[in-house]
Amino acid sequence: MTEASYLNTTRTDYDAVAVRYAELFANAHREVPLDRAILTAFAELVRVADVGPVADLGCGPGQVTAYFRDLGVTAFGIDLSPTMIALARQAYPDLRFEEGTMTDLDLADGTAGGILSWYSIIHTPPEQLPLVFAEFDRVLAPGGHILLGFFQADDDAPQPAQAFDHKASAAYRWSLNGVAELARKAGFVEVARMVREPGDTERFRQGRLLARKPSRA
Ligand SMILES: C[S@@+](CC[C@H](N)C(=O)[O-])C[C@H]1O[C@@H](n2cnc3c(N)ncnc32)[C@H](O)[C@@H]1O
Repeated sequence: MTEASYLNTTRTDYDAVAVRYAELFANAHREVPLDRAILTAFAELVRVADVGPVADLGCGPGQVTAYFRDLGVTAFGIDLSPTMIALARQAYPDLRFEEGTMTDLDLADGTAGGILSWYSIIHTPPEQLPLVFAEFDRVLAPGGHILLGFFQADDDAPQPAQAFDHKASAAYRWSLNGVAELARKAGFVEVARMVREPGDTERFRQGRLLARKPSRA
C-alpha cells in the first residue's frame, strides 16, 4: 500500500521538533489532575479486563507509555517519527517502542488490551479518521478499552473537525460528539467523556473519550 503523503509530512515535522518536544512535555500528563484522573482510570480498566497490554499509538518520546508502566500496566509505544522512537528508547530502555503508523499497525488482530491515542489522532485528516478507528478496532481485543485525548472543537460548530495552526504539524480539533459518533460507528461503546477548560498555557478546551470494545458473547 502506498503511504499517504500526510504521514510523511507528519513524520518529518515531528523529527524536526522531537528533542524540544520531549523537553517541553516530559511531565505534562502528570501535571493536570483531571488528565491524571482519566489516564489512571483507563489504566485500571485495562488492568482489570486483563486482555492485553496498552498500545500507546503516537507515543512521541514515550513519557505516557512509561506512566502506564509506573501504574503497573504493561505498555508499549508506536510512533511515526524515528527520532521520537529513538528518544523514547533512550529514556525508557526497559520498554518497547517501534516505528509505525496507526493507519496500518504491525500488530495481530485482537492483541491489545488498551489503545491510547493521546494527541495523535489530531494529525489525521478528518476523512481518514474512520480508517484509523477501523484499525484500532482490528487490533483491540474484545473487552479492551480505548482512550482518546485531543483538542476540542465546539459541538455546535458547522463541521465536527476544524484545522488549526498547531506548532509542529498540520492538525485538527474535533467536537466530542463528532469523535464519539465515529467511535460508535467503528463498534466501540462509549464509557465516559470529559471536557476540561484550557489551562493557562492552552488555547482550547481539551476533549477525552473513553470507550470499550464489547466482549464476545
Ligand atoms: C502531539 S504529539 C503527542 C505525543 C504523545 N502522545 C504525548 O502525549 O506527548 C503527536 C505524536 O503522534 C505521532 N503521530 C501522528 N500521526 C501518527 C500516525 N499516523 N501513526 C503513528 N504516530 C503518529 C507524531 O509523530 C507525534 O509523535
